Amino acid sequence: MGSMQLQLHPKLLPPSSTFRPKSIRSSNDRQALFSRIAPVYDNLNDLLSLGQHRIWKRMAVSWTGAKMGDRVLDVCCGSGDLAFLLSEKVGSDGKVIGLDFSKQQLLIASSRQHSKNHFRNIEWIEGDALNLPFDDGWFDAITMGYGLRNVIDKHKAMQEIKRVLKAGSTVSILDFNKSNDSLTSSMTEWMIDNVVVPVASGYGLSEEYRYLKSSIREFLTGKELEKLALEVGFSTARHYEISGGLMGCLVAKR
Ligand SMILES: C[S@@+](CC[C@H](N)C(=O)[O-])C[C@H]1O[C@@H](n2cnc3c(N)ncnc32)[C@H](O)[C@@H]1O
Repeated sequence: MGSMQLQLHPKLLPPSSTFRPKSIRSSNDRQALFSRIAPVYDNLNDLLSLGQHRIWKRMAVSWTGAKMGDRVLDVCCGSGDLAFLLSEKVGSDGKVIGLDFSKQQLLIASSRQHSKNHFRNIEWIEGDALNLPFDDGWFDAITMGYGLRNVIDKHKAMQEIKRVLKAGSTVSILDFNKSNDSLTSSMTEWMIDNVVVPVASGYGLSEEYRYLKSSIREFLTGKELEKLALEVGFSTARHYEISGGLMGCLVAKR
């Protein structure tokens, strides 16, 4: 199913035989990584999650409590899945901002926007999650999907999200779950080594998807995420495990 899209963007893909990333530690490395995978990101998400990421994203959006007429933000929006779901929730009287630091991801998001009329309430902004270009207390709800794990400074990202949220409003942060249970984490790592990386290598992106394993290892557990949210000043924080602990969603209220 991914071959059609791959053929449309051959020049955007690095030659797998010569491409060897040294490290994916800095913000610039990560920005470059997400720009490289942008052309195939949606296809791979569908393939690797067997379409389930759509359900997880719906859950994350519904946990924000976003409603008609709200002004909402999707941080690290990538190709826009969560922003599109938010767009349906807030309707034509509402406003959605999708923010990402990868221009390539935003170009794909914006190309998908034209598929439905009501997506006209979305604006795409190139920006940094660690320095959000919005006033304090600007948004009624915020989502972040698979973004917090990838930012260099998670504390700062949470502070920024809290700053731009209205008092009493909610952020919903969906990501892989760093499980305390050794069986669940071994299964996740086995899946990455034996399914994700081999599939990604078919797209010339094995090194990029190998980074997933280290990023989950270095991520925070549900309890640590709740602690981080309370430390930066959210009034409540609850982490929900999804799909048998494979994914997790932190729901925090300012
Ligand atoms: C794994 S993708 C997730 C995309 C989308 N939210 C989804 O759920 O499909 C992570 C995104 O975070 C973006 N990102 C990572 N660090 C960022 C930062 N500091 N500021 C803005 N975007 C960032 C990347 O460019 C990438 O598009």
